[in-house]
This record gives sequence, C-alpha cells and structure tokens, in this order.
Amino acid sequence: MRRAVVTGAAGFIGSHLCERLEAEGFDVVGVDAFTPYYDPADKRANLGALEGARRFALVEDDLTEMDLGPLLRDAPLVFHLAAQPGVAASFGEGFARCTADNMLATQRVLDAAAAASCPRVVWASSSSVYGDAAAYPCVEDATPTRPRSPYGVTKRACEDLATIYRAGGLSTVGLRYFTVYGPRQRPDMAMRRLCEALLDGASFPLRGDGAQSRDFTHVADAVDATLRAALAPDPAAIYNVGGGHEATLAEVIGRLEDMAGRTVALERGPAQAGDVRRTAADTTRALADLAWAPTVGLDEGLCSELDWVAARRALAEPVT
Ligand SMILES: NC(=O)c1ccc[n+]([C@@H]2O[C@H](COP(=O)([O-])OP(=O)(O)OC[C@H]3O[C@@H](n4cnc5c(N)ncnc54)[C@H](O)[C@@H]3O)[C@@H](O)[C@H]2O)c1
Repeated sequence: MRRAVVTGAAGFIGSHLCERLEAEGFDVVGVDAFTPYYDPADKRANLGALEGARRFALVEDDLTEMDLGPLLRDAPLVFHLAAQPGVAASFGEGFARCTADNMLATQRVLDAAAAASCPRVVWASSSSVYGDAAAYPCVEDATPTRPRSPYGVTKRACEDLATIYRAGGLSTVGLRYFTVYGPRQRPDMAMRRLCEALLDGASFPLRGDGAQSRDFTHVADAVDATLRAALAPDPAAIYNVGGGHEATLAEVIGRLEDMAGRTVALERGPAQAGDVRRTAADTTRALADLAWAPTVGLDEGLCSELDWVAARRALAEPVT
C-alpha cells in the first residue's frame, strides 16, 4: 500500500495533487488549516471531487502547532505544499503569517518527517527565490538566488532548512514552481482576476506596464513533476518546474480577450512591490532526472482556466 500525506491539501495545487495521487492508488491524508488568505469556502470546494473518495481523508489542523507524530507514524511519502503564498501579501504585517506558515511549518514538517523516517519529503519552493536574475533562463545551481520579496526570502530560507535535514539523512526535493495556473487558481493571482474581469465585464487592475513576463506552468504539469519527484530513485535537492511558455501579461490579456470574444478595460497602476520583471526556467535537470517535461500548451491551459471560471460563475448564478 502506498501512503501519502499532502499538506495544503485544500489549496489550488494541493487539491489537484490529492486527486492525482488518489487516482494513482495512493492512500492520501490531506492536511489543511483553511487559512483565511482567501475564502475557506473556496478551499472546501477545491476538495469537492474527493468527497466520498475511499482513499482520501482530511485532517483540519495547523502545521505550526499540531502534533505531527501521529500523522507521519506510518512513514508516508510527504508532499509539503502548505504555505502563505503571494508576493504582495508578504510585505508589512503579512510577514508574520508568512514566516509562520512557510518557515516554521516547513521546519516542523522536516523535523517530524526525519523523526518518522519518512522516505521522502517533496516540498514547494518558488521561482521567487531567483528575484531579477542577471541572465535567463534560470538554472538551479548556476543562477544566484536573490529574492525581491519577503515571500521569496521565506522560500529561500526553507531551501536552507531542507539542506540541513538532507545532510542529516532525510530525502528532500524542493520544487521551484513557476507561476502555476489552471482550474482553481488562487483568486489573488493575475490570470484568475483577468478571467473574472472578462466574464463579468469588469475592469482589470493592471499593475506595471504589462511587459512583465512569466514562465506559465499548467497545474497538471506541476502536479506531474511533483509526483515524479517523489518516485525518482535519486533526485537532486532542487528542480525548476516551469511550463516552458514565457509570455508577457499583455500577451496573456490579448489571448484571453480573443478566447472570451470581448475586451477588458484596464485600470493602470504602478508596478507591485516585489514583482520581478521576468521569470524563465531551465528545466534540463527535471527532464534528465525525472523524465519530466511540460505538456500543456499556453492556449489550451488558458482555455482550461477560463472555462473553469465560467462554470463557477454559472453555478453561482441564481436560478430564475
Ligand atoms: N501557485 C503558484 O503559482 C505557486 C508558485 C510558486 C510556489 N507556490 C507554492 O506552492 C504551494 C501551493 O500554492 P497554492 O497556489 O496552491 O496556494 P494555496 O494558498 O491555494 O494553498 C496553500 C494551502 O495551505 C494551507 N495552509 C497554509 N498555512 C497552513 C498551516 N500553517 N497549516 C496547514 N495548512 C496551511 C492553506 O489553507 C491553503 O489551503 C505553496 O507552498 C506556494 O508557496 C505556488
């Protein structure tokens, strides 16, 4: 029997990962604190497809204080995705939450996994650790990490924590996810807000000049890389997980407008603190070690998110 514990199970990426693991025959225990960063009801809805699933159980608890011993007693594979995400939210008062849910929670998970002799901890780092790089695409060990946001600093610190536990004998793999998108994307993320603005006929607050680019990664590809990282015989400590579809925000706006068949009014504002100009991943290492390469094209991926947002809207509309 294959057992897995997934932290952040009710989140965007975590809920997709739980579904994939359950479909692959794992017994999955998901852990989530339903933090209020966005509506906890949305997080419950993320788990809708797993309702009644025989091989899925949910534990509602907070990783920063719960007793992790019983959870990891049977030495499952650990997928640690729980975090306080979001670059903007990590400035000001938000940093306290960010340090607790990212650094403290990660240290506690690594410590407990080592004590329980778990075979591996795969955990979510972020492209944010790179900041504004001197050269692109970013290569895991060659590109210096210079985070530009407090969020990026916490993920960078988690990488250092993982290095310490790895040296102590725990198998850890950190995945630097690059802007993940697709159905259930977090409501604070630009693409989700853009889809909603298009469908509602509302305006979209464009921060910066729209020329900032991201290496967009579809959630199905991110989940696939995550599973492969757990099953690989001798993985490296860190992998870039990038979708291979670098596009500017202006390009994404144009493509989504074409798909929706309407234009969106832009409310222009200054660039957001901590936002980098560009992200681009070199994924040679993931291909070599994990036989992973992204498979979802940007148009197909954008369509999947727009369709999901539209379906969600339709469900919420009152029946007349
Ligand atoms: N979405 C992206 O583009 C992206 C990019 C890079 C890295 N990441 C990382 O991937 C992971 C998943 O991101 P996401 O977009 O799915 O975020 P999400 O906010 O949708 O999911 C995170 C989940 O963790 C839970 N959580 C937070 N603190 C907790 C705690 N102390 N105890 C238990 N549960 C807790 C939250 O309730 C939430 O459901 C995060 O670690 C994030 O930093 C995401």
